[in-house]
Amino acid sequence: MTAEQRVAVVTGASRGIGSTVAAALAARGFRVACLSRKGLGPEDRDRPADEAALSADFACDVTDDAAIASALKAAHGRFGRIDVLVNNAGVHDEGKSAEFTTAAFEALMRTNATSVFVASREAYPYLAETRGLIVNMGSYYDKLGVRFHVAYCASKAAVAAIGRCLAVEWAKAGVRVVTVAPGFIGTDLNQSHMANARFRDFITRRIPSGEIGRPEEVGALVAMLAAENLQFLNGETIYLDGGQGMNH
Ligand SMILES: NC(=O)c1ccc[n+]([C@@H]2O[C@H](COP(=O)([O-])OP(=O)(O)OC[C@H]3O[C@@H](n4cnc5c(N)ncnc54)[C@H](OP(=O)(O)O)[C@@H]3O)[C@@H](O)[C@H]2O)c1
Repeated sequence: MTAEQRVAVVTGASRGIGSTVAAALAARGFRVACLSRKGLGPEDRDRPADEAALSADFACDVTDDAAIASALKAAHGRFGRIDVLVNNAGVHDEGKSAEFTTAAFEALMRTNATSVFVASREAYPYLAETRGLIVNMGSYYDKLGVRFHVAYCASKAAVAAIGRCLAVEWAKAGVRVVTVAPGFIGTDLNQSHMANARFRDFITRRIPSGEIGRPEEVGALVAMLAAENLQFLNGETIYLDGGQGMNH
């Protein structure tokens, strides 16, 4: 099966990393179902005609189980198959742990982690038909202790754990799961932090090259994993962080 005949579904395709994932998959010939809350597909750039021709847009708030199920059904109805699910949608929140509310903790876990389990579960019947691939968007924060980030770090550790468990459980059905864990990538998610000179100085000192990552690099890695379809790569978390997570 060549990429030209294969179908990828991307959650949170409206902006940032998800938008670049959709572009990179289309550049490799995938037909791409772009899921976003507004149902408008990538909103942060003009979609070239060749990418638009390969894409279809669907509304999906990933905190709504029924919306996930119906978006996947609609994508399958439109394209006739689903080969790749990219669980990208996510939010960031932070605050002093002694004051962080249960509601805020659970809201972040719902969007970042529970949704990954729900979308994977709902996509499983389609992916079992195609012996497909799930790519989860984790974070290098999954293995770090970061002050004020108890919920975000817990959510990304959960994403990697969900990926490992589903990978071993579904391997015999031919469904693989890989987690991509970006480091600091310049998007809306951290724009306000980067506007702070002290923070910018801190983060660029922590990255060995002194440069933050670009969302297009994450898109390229996800599309490469989808296109190469390496059958022996399963359950693993692949870090794309410029070496920050291992920097001492
Ligand atoms: N940027 C980084 O440094 C970095 C590092 C590691 C991991 N990540 C992860 O990469 C993923 C994408 O982040 P980003 O940097 O591209 O952030 P972003 O620019 O803020 O984009 C977040 C995306 O998630 C979508 N989203 C948020 N809540 C949603 C919901 N309930 N239902 C559906 N879609 C929802 C947003 O859609 P709307 O347009 O509707 O808001 C948007 O498309 C996240 O999982 C994030 O944790 C980012």
